[in-house]
Amino acid sequence: MNRIYTQSDWINRAREVLPAAGFGNFDASIVIARGEGSRVWDEDGNEYVDYLIGSGPMLLGHGYPEVMEAVFEQLPKGMTFFANNAKGIELAEAIVDAVPCCEHVRFVTSGGEADMYAIRLARAYTGKPKILKFEGGYHGMSAEAQMSLAPSKQVNFPTAVPDSAGIPQGVADDMLIAPFNDLEAVASLLSEHEDIAAIIAEPLQRIIPARPGFLQGLRDLCDKHGVLLIFDEIVTGFRLAYGGAQERYGVAPDICTLGKIIGGGFPLAALGASAEIMAHFDKAVVGAEKWLMQLGTLSGNPVAAAAGLKTMEILRRPGQYERLRHLGQTLMDMQSSELTRQGVTHRICGDPTLFDIYFTDVDPVDYRTAKHRDSKINEVWNSTLRTHGVFKSPGKLYPSLALKNDDLELTRLAFKRAANAVSEYGIGPT
Ligand SMILES: Cc1ncc(COP(=O)(O)O)c(C=O)c1O
Repeated sequence: MNRIYTQSDWINRAREVLPAAGFGNFDASIVIARGEGSRVWDEDGNEYVDYLIGSGPMLLGHGYPEVMEAVFEQLPKGMTFFANNAKGIELAEAIVDAVPCCEHVRFVTSGGEADMYAIRLARAYTGKPKILKFEGGYHGMSAEAQMSLAPSKQVNFPTAVPDSAGIPQGVADDMLIAPFNDLEAVASLLSEHEDIAAIIAEPLQRIIPARPGFLQGLRDLCDKHGVLLIFDEIVTGFRLAYGGAQERYGVAPDICTLGKIIGGGFPLAALGASAEIMAHFDKAVVGAEKWLMQLGTLSGNPVAAAAGLKTMEILRRPGQYERLRHLGQTLMDMQSSELTRQGVTHRICGDPTLFDIYFTDVDPVDYRTAKHRDSKINEVWNSTLRTHGVFKSPGKLYPSLALKNDDLELTRLAFKRAANAVSEYGIGPT
């Protein structure tokens, strides 16, 4: 008979073979066994409403029947070819139809890889070396992206500090760091440095919204100084709106990166821009000197493309984004009313399609202001939610379209208990 392993057995096995007992992504004290619709189950059979949704991709919920059908249809035809395939071409067409700045797209396997190429593409197109990034902005794991991602000590802007070992100083020398939402700081950096290729930004930085006019201000400054604007839409693409943050906020970047939802839960990401900029991936057009070599074993994988295409088709149906916003707003209001009832000072930050709480009395506008008054409070909040059947990351809550009334009811009770726990922990009004 096969032995049944408990969650703690799996945790012990993970400790034997994985550094820090995990994949590096998430709290290693939980091992997820399966997901279905709005819910996931751990290896001990505990059930949770899932607000992590695979860190974003599973917007429709787990095992959405039509997406599964599309995947099952593709599987017997072949899992990967390395060569062009119809599903990948159709997915490129659907992205170009949807996303304002994309005339051409290239597929890669992860969001971080897409961001790495976006930065390289901007350098190739402009012939300039420097990249302006916002403190706290997340763009994957490349050396550039690791600059001032989550600095524990404050240095003066625009000095870049690596948040990872193993990155040579030369990388930092070509990066300039600015505070998010500070147009004046960006303007003066662009005036002082003529060798900036691009500004890379999350149009909604983690969960911090851009102030009104900030994104348009970046667009105008980039145009004035001949600098490219890169929007990292790995999270916001097909979430904030079908056409992403650029559609929602009405500001188009020069280059954007996409991931998560466009792979329908499989490894696929992309970058896109005008045909002129993307021509740097075509040696025959730009010549060997200006060409970006780009390839990847799984790029344009047909199974991932089939899942992404079907997910996007479902998202195009009437009412999907209205429903997502309504669900998110309901959850935001529920959190707020439970915390307010307990007298807990907080700010709910983000967009109804992704958001979370800061336990603070300061409005978060950038990395330095987006802080809990005491990080332990957030641990109390999140661990109480977990105990009461709500699964989320410590810094984000992603609503999915699979949520039903019973999920919301369970979540309301968990919010109530967590608000109570936070209040007992002892932070009230300042
Ligand atoms: C804004 C943003 N950019 C890039 C990435 C990296 O994507 P991936 O994890 O697919 O490499 C993420 C991942 O969460 C992200 O949130």
